[in-house]
Amino acid sequence: ETIRPPLAPQVIAGEGLNVIEAAKRLAAYTAVDRHVKPEHTVIGVGSGSTVPYVVERILEQGQELNKNRVFIPTSFQSRELIVNNGLNLGDVDQYPTIDVDFDGADEVDNELNCIKGGGACHLREKVVAEAATTLILVADYRKNVSYLGTNFDPGVPIEVVPFAYAKVLKNLRAMGSPNATLRMAVRKAGPVVTDNGNFVIDAPFARKDMMDPFTLTHKIKMLTGVVEVGIFCHMAQAAYFGNADGSVTIK
Ligand code: 5RP
Repeated sequence: ETIRPPLAPQVIAGEGLNVIEAAKRLAAYTAVDRHVKPEHTVIGVGSGSTVPYVVERILEQGQELNKNRVFIPTSFQSRELIVNNGLNLGDVDQYPTIDVDFDGADEVDNELNCIKGGGACHLREKVVAEAATTLILVADYRKNVSYLGTNFDPGVPIEVVPFAYAKVLKNLRAMGSPNATLRMAVRKAGPVVTDNGNFVIDAPFARKDMMDPFTLTHKIKMLTGVVEVGIFCHMAQAAYFGNADGSVTIK
């Protein structure tokens, strides 16, 4: 469904932001307004460029509610976001049951399966998402697709233990991803290292494989050395996409 959210005219018009950022803000504000209830005390904070708008909107609910809440990060970035905004920081080992978790995505299909891990945070994101009673995805309209792999060229992000990366690359290439590559840090000085000290492989697969994300996820996860796969199958309860015209599409 596509709605016109009941938000301030400046927010609808995207005032102060470019079109993409305005779309992210629309999605985040609408999702928070619908899903963060006064009784929610444990809230997951995902990663990526839309999540700061989630925190911005939660802060607008006021100190009275937020002082009794604890926020669970999924990355170094979201930990900073929580701490720098003076919110209470918790961890999933202390709070294995989370009321609601908000996260970004690289792509979301019509079944609410998604690709995550463009920011290399998908292991913690998946743990927090599984601990959450409700997972809500927030993004701009570019992430709204019919099937996974439509626009997101790098392919499936796969976190691997450093010791196993060459073996897993070989496995993935033999499994139908000949262009699987180890993700390199900017300037290519060395590989990207995750918050957990691991490496990331990006593995593009053919459409026939991407059309069955559940099977593909399980096949990849069975490779020894793989820590987590950046495909989340049937985990989200809803996805909110801000559109360029001030509307929000909800799946
Ligand atoms: C990080 C993620 C992010 O949520 C995803 O990459 C979207 O990020 P952005 O909004 O910056 O495009 O999964 O692991």
